[in-house]
Amino acid sequence: MFPTHRPRRLRQNPGLRAMVREHALRRSALIQPLFVVPGSGVRREIASLPGQFHLSVDALVEEARRIAGLGIPAVLLFGLPESKDEEGSGAWAAEGIVQRATRALKQALPQLQVVTDLCLCEYTSHGHCGVVKKNARQHAGGVEVLNDPTLELLARTAVAQAEAGADLIAPSDMMDGRVAAIRRGLDQAGYEHLPILSYAAKYASAFYGPFRDAAGSAPQFGDRGGYQMDPANGREALREMELDFEEGADMLMVKPALPYLDILRQARERFDIPLAAYQDSGEYAQIVAAARAGWLDQERAMLETLTSIHRAGADLIITYFAQAAAKLLG
Ligand code: PBG
Ligand code: ZN
Repeated sequence: MFPTHRPRRLRQNPGLRAMVREHALRRSALIQPLFVVPGSGVRREIASLPGQFHLSVDALVEEARRIAGLGIPAVLLFGLPESKDEEGSGAWAAEGIVQRATRALKQALPQLQVVTDLCLCEYTSHGHCGVVKKNARQHAGGVEVLNDPTLELLARTAVAQAEAGADLIAPSDMMDGRVAAIRRGLDQAGYEHLPILSYAAKYASAFYGPFRDAAGSAPQFGDRGGYQMDPANGREALREMELDFEEGADMLMVKPALPYLDILRQARERFDIPLAAYQDSGEYAQIVAAARAGWLDQERAMLETLTSIHRAGADLIITYFAQAAAKLLG
């Protein structure tokens, strides 16, 4: 005796199976992260992120042209500055690496959306995401990053990115009150219409390892546990997202993606604004590494993870697989 409902009836026939598929990821949901470096003619593969490159501004424009040609609507920029200092002044310099890259991209490819990651850790000599207190107390490995002095520098950086032509500002620092501070800074500079995509629930994750190699942004001492979220906390993530929403974020992000699909799903139920998820460097690298060892099929693992992130509730997915996925998706 079988129950009357037999789900396999619709699975057996591949044509019907495709027709009843609940979620179809589209290329228009993908954002490709890119790393821009000083110099010209530079296109160097990143050791910790096979298939991803350090690109000088000229090579970045060529890469972005291919990306746009694949139907991917947006790129997310990270910069590796010529030099670093205590405050991270390269982040907001008018001729800073991301500002130069943004201007070049908007000139060459006006339709391509330029999202700028907004943080100080790539620009500070200590590698933290904000102002570190001099002679900082180091409680049990913790580092004292000063919240409010950091806000001013973040707002300044947002304005510099806006002036360069960024389409969407994406703060990833996790300071308290940064969305409000950035919003105020942008409004005062006349950028009321420029939206903010907030890395709202950003966890202190081991999966950022390959990125920190790629961006040269590993902390020189301590860790980011004093400002990024504890992986054990779920309710707190929703509180973080609520705050960013109230402070004026136009979109909210969860990062990493796959280990935090529960957070993404709860956010989907709670918020009506667009949600993004970041399939980060470690999520990418583990799939690529396993595939290279012959332990799994890279293409299938890529599509399965991206589909899962989409199914959990992400409207947008930031992924190093954007180009590979776009070649397979509608
Ligand atoms: C900067 C930043 C990081 C990532 C995005 N923005 C690194 C970090 O917080 O340590 C991670 C990206 C990735 O792992 O792909 N704050
Ligand atoms: Zn940072």
